[in-house]
Amino acid sequence: MGPLLPIHLDRRSRHPLQRQLYDELRAAILAGRLASGDRLPATRALAADLAVSRNTITGAFDQLLAEGYLEGRAGSGTYVAAALPDDLLRVAASSRRVEPGAPPRLSRRGVMLASTPVSPSRVGEGLRPFQTGVPALDVFPRDLWARIAARAARRAGPERMAYGDPAGFAPLRRAVAGYLRAARGVRCSWEQVVITAGSQQALDLAARVLLDPGDTAWVEDPGYMGARGAFTAAGVRCAPIAVDDDGLSLIDGVARHPEARMAYCTPSHQYPLGFTMPLARRMALLAWARDRGAWIVEDDYDSEFRYAGRPLAALQGLDAAGRVIYTGTFSKVLFPAVRLGYLVAPEGAVDAFVAARALADRHPPGLDQAIVAEFLESGHFARHVRRMRALYAERQGALVDAAGRHLRGLIEIAPAEAGMHLLGWLPRGADDREASRKAAETGVSAAALSQYAVRARPRPALLLGYAAYPARKIRDAVGKLSEALC
Ligand SMILES: Cc1ncc(COP(=O)(O)O)c(C=O)c1O
Repeated sequence: MGPLLPIHLDRRSRHPLQRQLYDELRAAILAGRLASGDRLPATRALAADLAVSRNTITGAFDQLLAEGYLEGRAGSGTYVAAALPDDLLRVAASSRRVEPGAPPRLSRRGVMLASTPVSPSRVGEGLRPFQTGVPALDVFPRDLWARIAARAARRAGPERMAYGDPAGFAPLRRAVAGYLRAARGVRCSWEQVVITAGSQQALDLAARVLLDPGDTAWVEDPGYMGARGAFTAAGVRCAPIAVDDDGLSLIDGVARHPEARMAYCTPSHQYPLGFTMPLARRMALLAWARDRGAWIVEDDYDSEFRYAGRPLAALQGLDAAGRVIYTGTFSKVLFPAVRLGYLVAPEGAVDAFVAARALADRHPPGLDQAIVAEFLESGHFARHVRRMRALYAERQGALVDAAGRHLRGLIEIAPAEAGMHLLGWLPRGADDREASRKAAETGVSAAALSQYAVRARPRPALLLGYAAYPARKIRDAVGKLSEALC
């Protein structure tokens, strides 16, 4: 329970009690009297304390959730948002002068969308070690990209400048299909490939096209917040399912949520724990989907980055019943701001995906698709991935090495065969969110593993992304982290 605040509600004021409570809480957050991570009292208790109705409390909380001052954690209450970005504070400060006026009334869906997190860090924090999920932007071949972009722009005649195909630019779909067949063992024709705005859009489409509001989907726990967010936003009930050394636990899923109509998983490299799903589990999961008529969303977000061991082909390639929606992204192999990814839909579902995509945003930007298509077709993509694989192995080595020297006794880090981040295990009983907060104070971004969990209680750990940072920065950040955790 967070600190109990003196909250003054004036029953004679012309401002409604809900508005007064909202103002008081927001002022307390802006003044720092309520700090990031503080837990707010339960609505029932606060309503009793202040002698107001519970609706008054939930109304004020909903508004603060919608505006990003508060965040809800499933089943565990309401907290002051972990990161209050500067611009939020600026907007709040300046809007105070322009006010008053009732805050805009959002729809219930709007409130829910606004309070559903897509990632643990806020956009605008800037790139700093050990933020995860970001590739080596410092060595991206920008000149080459610029040349290809200029050529693509020159070639873009009126036809390419008009509305395009909602399924994506055909040469890019062909190139993606060729790549997936050869490199990932995906079984598909190019017509099954739909180009999306990153995997996030693919997840949103999968939930909306294949499930109804109120349907249940298994999501890995701990797991990817972006998937949970997309499903929740589509009205789908996310059932957090345990992850064991073989990935998503089918036993846990069937035992606790037999009604599920979809399973979301990252079989190549479980996010964020890093397990690879072995063949037996893959076959069992496919059999479950086939027998139940359920769907599997296979998120193959970073399978290109494997440094040792044999990569397993995609789950989709083993699916004889057409139950898998395969998703991939250019965010890791190129750069996140390119906002291009793809899904491979089962044959009978392609048209529905394309129609839903057209309704959302018509189609992906044509010029960017042409650039990526050329990057793939001309072999630059394969070369870039090979270079990055070697570089990331080096950067991972730098992190393991520096941690071995400076974090001994504080954090335990073991090398991994794949991926772009490592888990830094804290001593049992440690509070990883507290450790993450302390790291942030020294300028190091290290998300707490518990932030990715819903029901699961994983051993405390920090996620340490390494791919984006040169060895020197990694060593500096390890130094800061050791100060923060001492
Ligand atoms: C598990 C997982 N899937 C997908 C993505 C990529 O999302 P997008 O393609 O929307 O950038 C990420 C990025 O961090 C991820 O961690």
